[in-house]
Parts: sequence; structure tokens; C-alpha cells
Amino acid sequence: MSADKKLAAAKAAIEYLPQAGVIGLGSGSTAKLFIDLVGDLVRSGRKLTGVATSQDSRDQAEALGIPLLSDSGPWQVDVCVDGADEVSRELDVIKGGGGCQTREKIINFASRFNIIIVDDSKLSEKLGMKWPVPVEVLSFAHATTRAHLERLGSVKLRLRNGAPWMTDAGNFIYDVSLGVIADPAATDQRLRALPGVVETGLFIQRANVVLVAAAEGIRKLTPSAP
Ligand code: 5RP
Repeated sequence: MSADKKLAAAKAAIEYLPQAGVIGLGSGSTAKLFIDLVGDLVRSGRKLTGVATSQDSRDQAEALGIPLLSDSGPWQVDVCVDGADEVSRELDVIKGGGGCQTREKIINFASRFNIIIVDDSKLSEKLGMKWPVPVEVLSFAHATTRAHLERLGSVKLRLRNGAPWMTDAGNFIYDVSLGVIADPAATDQRLRALPGVVETGLFIQRANVVLVAAAEGIRKLTPSAP
């Protein structure tokens, strides 16, 4: 995703923010650009408070002087803005390329309005065509959980410098390739039913709008009525 497109998507999200309120601050490189812009707004006097979907986003927001609510919740988030790894035609989403999907999903569910910011390279006919499903797994007995996951698809433990990559909560991530996902909601339920699975990166019908940066400008995709 080009830096220009990321920035265009982040700028488009700014227009949805209230004059004052609580903003969910997503994670990843596109959300990072959005958080920079929120920092500009706060410095110019807008009364915006953040809830951070990751320690990285919290650190960035703190450095920019954005007031933050505690990680404990509960919060009433007015608008949450986050990136994504893959977006289907139905506007279901895979997230967790940065391993933050559990916190991201909690804040998404606490938000009245959810905005996903991506470029057009993230769009897919169906989920699973471009990206595996990141699954956060308790480190305890993770090899046992892996064996359960392997019954559903091909599974890779996410590594960094040869050691298991760890989430903010100290858990592991397994990237699970399931092929084309015909029924994302059922797949999400199946994964989440396994003992040891903390959360998946499948966000089913959790975007009120997807802002897609393309060469011709910003496309605003909204879920079609059932
Ligand atoms: C982190 C995420 C990110 O939002 C997702 O990976 C997109 O990141 P980027 O904007 O860097 O492409 O889900 O867990």
C-alpha cells in the first residue's frame, strides 16, 4: 500500500470525527497516520480522547499529547478508525497483521461507529484469498491448540527473530490459511470454539464504512441492507 494512499485514507476518516468525543485508535501503519492527524486536531483545540488498540498506538498517542482513557474500560467510543489486511465484497474484514486483533475487536465492539481505512489492494472477492486468519492463542498448551487449528487449515506460528511473536497480552499468534472462506461467521465461530483460542482476526459485519484509497480517489463502501 503506497504511503500516499494510506495518508489519503487516514485523512478521509478525519471527516467522520465528532467535534468532541472518544475515538478508538487503531493499529498498523495506516492507523498510525490517522493517529498523527488526531494529534494535530488535539493540538488545535479539538476535545478528542483516545482509546488505544495496542501498546504501540498508546505510546504514539501519548507522545502526541492525545488524552487517553485507561485500558480497563468500559468506554463509550464514538468512532473507531482502524486498518485492515483484507476486506471482502460483503465488507467482512481480516485484521491482525500487527497481532492486535483482540484489542482491536474489543474496541470495535465498544464503538458506535467503525471506520476501516485501506487501499484498494486490500479488497477481495472473498476473505482468505489474500490473507490467512491471524488467531491469538494462549501460550499455555499452544502446541495442543495448534493441533486443533491444523484440523481446519494450514497453520504457521508467527515468529520474530526465531522466537514466537508475542501479543501485548503475552499470547502467541497462529496464522491459519483456510483457503477461500465461504462463510466467515461460521469460520469465526469454529475457531473461537477451540480451547486456547483467545480471538480471531475475522471481523464480521463490523464496519459501518470502509474508506478505500484508490488512484481515482476515495471510495466509501457501506454495508448493503440485509
Ligand atoms: C493490526 C491490524 C492492522 O490494522 C492491519 O494489519 C493493517 O495494517 P497496515 O495499515 O499496516 O497495512 O489489524 O493488528
